[in-house]
Amino acid sequence: MNKINIIAPSLLSANFANLERDIKFCEEGGAEMLHLDIMDNHFVPNLTFGPLILQHIKPITNLQISTHLMVTNPDSLIPQFAELGSDLISFHCEAIPHIHRTISLIQSYGKKAGVALNPLTPIEYAYEAAEFADFILLMTVNPGFGGQSFIPNFYNRIDKLTNQLHKINRTNVLIEVDGGIKIENAREIVDAGANILVSGSGVFKGNIVENIKLMKNELEK
Ligand code: DX5
Ligand code: ZN
Repeated sequence: MNKINIIAPSLLSANFANLERDIKFCEEGGAEMLHLDIMDNHFVPNLTFGPLILQHIKPITNLQISTHLMVTNPDSLIPQFAELGSDLISFHCEAIPHIHRTISLIQSYGKKAGVALNPLTPIEYAYEAAEFADFILLMTVNPGFGGQSFIPNFYNRIDKLTNQLHKINRTNVLIEVDGGIKIENAREIVDAGANILVSGSGVFKGNIVENIKLMKNELEK
């Protein structure tokens, strides 16, 4: 039974004029990881930031970095994000045909490789990938924006994925869940089998330190 439960605030909802301050609040609240949402205005209808942000963040924090590539050409960005210090890198299986190649590329830098699935992508797409990936990222909103509502078909999907991980003896593969996660639903998402909870608006709206502490309390109940 995997017992890793980590909160990863998504910087997409942070105040970019005060990014260092918000990262320090994440540390103070007890977050273990930061989540970077990389959007290319092609795979998703929004544009965020590139490797430069990581270059500036890395010297000011020891938190683990999880980079979520919502881009049509992840292979061209992976080397930079890996070299700048991402610990985990995920890419979307809907974006590219050569999933094994991209997993191998990430792992060749000694980083954890994750395959991300949109909410209505058949969960079976993760079954083969789970033989090789270090984690699977289940989207619980359509990627592209923070502040959307959690799509509850997730519960059925994580059940199927967890069963498959047992079946193929890959229970060490972590499950990251991203989108619409708040203090109120964090407990049931972890109970369903999630290991890494990404939360943007749930953390950054209001008191960041307090929100993370309350979310962590939910996980410890
Ligand atoms: C959505 C991003 C998420 C987003 C989550 O495309 O991948 O990481 O920042 O934001 P909330 O928690 O507000 O749904
Ligand atoms: Zn994300």
